[in-house]
Amino acid sequence: MTPLVALRGIDKSFAGIHALSGVSFDVRPGEVHAMVGENGAGKSTLMRVMGGELRPDAGSVEVGGEAVRLTGPTDAIRRGISIIHQEMALAPDLSVAENIFLGELPARIGWGRLNTQAKELIARLGFDISPRATVSDLSVAHQQVVEIAKALSRRARVIVFDEPTAVLSMGDAKRLLEIIRGLRREGVGIVYISHRLDEIYAIADRISVLKDGRNVDTVTPDAVPVDQLIRMMVGRPLSQLFGEKPHTTVGEELLRVENLALPNGVAGVSFSLRRGEVVGLGGLVGSGRTEVARAIFGADPISSGTITLRGENYRPRSPKQAVRHGIALVPEDRKGQGVVLDLAIRKNATMANTGPVTRLGFFSGGKERSVVRGLIDDLRIKLGDMGDPVSSLSGGNQQKVVLAKWFHAGGDVVILDEPTRGVDVGAKTEIYSLIHRMAAEGKAVLVISSEHAELFGLCDRVLVMGEGRLRGELLPPDYSEENLLMLSMTSGAEERARA
Ligand SMILES: Nc1ncnc2c1ncn2[C@@H]1O[C@H](COP(=O)(O)OP(=O)(O)OP(=O)(O)O)[C@@H](O)[C@H]1O
Ligand SMILES: [Mg+2]
Repeated sequence: MTPLVALRGIDKSFAGIHALSGVSFDVRPGEVHAMVGENGAGKSTLMRVMGGELRPDAGSVEVGGEAVRLTGPTDAIRRGISIIHQEMALAPDLSVAENIFLGELPARIGWGRLNTQAKELIARLGFDISPRATVSDLSVAHQQVVEIAKALSRRARVIVFDEPTAVLSMGDAKRLLEIIRGLRREGVGIVYISHRLDEIYAIADRISVLKDGRNVDTVTPDAVPVDQLIRMMVGRPLSQLFGEKPHTTVGEELLRVENLALPNGVAGVSFSLRRGEVVGLGGLVGSGRTEVARAIFGADPISSGTITLRGENYRPRSPKQAVRHGIALVPEDRKGQGVVLDLAIRKNATMANTGPVTRLGFFSGGKERSVVRGLIDDLRIKLGDMGDPVSSLSGGNQQKVVLAKWFHAGGDVVILDEPTRGVDVGAKTEIYSLIHRMAAEGKAVLVISSEHAELFGLCDRVLVMGEGRLRGELLPPDYSEENLLMLSMTSGAEERARA
């Protein structure tokens, strides 16, 4: 079968980094071809070559069996190749319909018609989103649906999904996989990039592994079990994802939250964190987990409730004050809050280190470099030069810089919101052991995660939220996906009935 698109022997270098060396990859009609590999392996770069965004230094691109020279993204789109990027690329202030037809607005067609067409495309994906809605008002999941509708409107024959589920809730991720199965039935060729290997096994017809910018192999999921795939990706066997938690004695209470209520409807949240503990905060996306974290960190206002920090009453006012009081928050939205993209990697990593709680104090340039070098090694951050801007890093490596920034900041109450989102399996194990290390050093760590396996593998206990309420707590003997979901979805009415 002639592939829809084939890349052969692609080479691509950036100043100082050989991102791709002789990489070949193809997509056939009606297949899902998954691509996996560590952060910085070259996955997004290869797709940017396929999408006409990057000109390869060497190698060829074939569309429908014919060698072509893609002159740019518009050329690729015209040839039926659409990319749904790792970082969302919609125009936030435009409407849904405007976004879908952006760049090809036919002057003669009226808005009524465009809106109807947009609505039809979205309906084909099984969603009901107003074509007149402004994109920035939509949930991330709906924004992604708009991106897919946009690809469909361009009659894409190949659609590349670059880590589409990294920002989605579990339910939305399942729905996306359904959409992709539908596209496959229609004969579209799909490229699917993800660090969530369970998804890869659920959806892929073929899996290609990239490592350090080179092809490792292309396999079928039934022929290669997951541990073998991981070994191909990271080049070493990963003994245990979560590792052994070092034995830590749980010490005194560091943080106590009582009856916390926020203007957005979160209410009645009470819990405490002790030294040496790793506590999970689970529940469905939208259940209020991030809001609670932001309020404790002083990023959002509190309506009522009391917070006690190291035995003293604490009123969060600003993130700056929180950092000074030894509270750290690694935010879930790395692009918006975590890193300054244009700033050097080195500066980003040490940015939070400004207050008296930091043990390291201010740095000389040399000291800064050596501290950052240690973190880069710990987290296996792949980069050219520490002076390069963060924007030159791969998606997962940007996430690692955010983590480096906060691991570095000191503080003994550490809140991590989706710490391993977009991070490869190898780096996950490093992050988990860093979290264990923080607990062993006497910090209290609160981990928010939508990956239930991560909560159970990492945490001493898991608090479960649902609809803005803390619904309960799970201890290791009760750890199961079912228990967590049941607890999260138990409605307030049922609770009251039982009381
Ligand atoms: N514009 C650029 N300037 C300099 N280096 C770049 C640029 N784009 C990518 N790189 C480098 O090329 C390498 C491959 O990056 P790429 O984004 O393709 O990785 P990836 O496999 O998509 O990783 P991730 O899983 O983290 O998204 C990385 O070392 C990255 O830092
Ligand atoms: Mg990438």
